[in-house]
Amino acid sequence: MIQLADAVRFSATAALLRLERPADQAGIDALVARAFGPGRLAKTAERLREANCPIMGLCFVAEQDGQLVGCVRLWPIQIGNERLVFLGPFAVDASQRSLGLGARLINAACEAAAKAGEDAVLLVGDLAYFSKLGFETVDPAMVTLPGPVDTRRVLIKPLGAQLRPYLGQVQPF
Ligand SMILES: CC(C)(COP(=O)(O)OP(=O)(O)OC[C@H]1O[C@@H](n2cnc3c(N)ncnc32)[C@H](O)[C@@H]1OP(=O)(O)O)[C@@H](O)C(=O)NCCC(=O)NCCS
Repeated sequence: MIQLADAVRFSATAALLRLERPADQAGIDALVARAFGPGRLAKTAERLREANCPIMGLCFVAEQDGQLVGCVRLWPIQIGNERLVFLGPFAVDASQRSLGLGARLINAACEAAAKAGEDAVLLVGDLAYFSKLGFETVDPAMVTLPGPVDTRRVLIKPLGAQLRPYLGQVQPF
């Protein structure tokens, strides 16, 4: 039986998900600036994105009434000789939060990455949110990022049966 809360959540997620297109760039920039503010470019995660290119077939946006209200991007990275993908920026417009849109975006990106043969998705984020979506904490003795980071926020999700024994510093691929 559908509970009232589920029905509300169901009807409230009318936004459509689709693959990112080049013309989305301005809308994504504006959404990310609203969600993260000016400090975003100083983050260690940005070191993995500058001089790198998002994998266009694995980046998704959400649209509601023609407005871009959500985005998630995946980038090629490596740890030692092992390739995997880095997730971010990930944002949902404040007007559309807590409707399940964020989870849909993450799941769409992870499913597309798995189909494309990627082995794992790495990100910097809150375990309280991402653990529900299959992410776990990375062992900071095994994997480091190219800059300061709260190691409790370095999370990974294996896309295959089990996590590979990653060892080394994360770098753009
Ligand atoms: C994080 C974000 C993308 C989630 O989008 P969303 O569409 O609201 O996500 P969902 O609907 O799937 O999940 C919402 C739930 O997660 C919770 N949640 C959101 N951010 C959280 C966090 N950092 N830690 C723990 N819980 C969180 C919400 O409180 C909400 O709980 P509820 O269902 O009990 O109301 C959105 O809050 C956002 O854009 N935040 C600002 C940018 C940001 O922090 N991005 C993530 C960086 S890795």
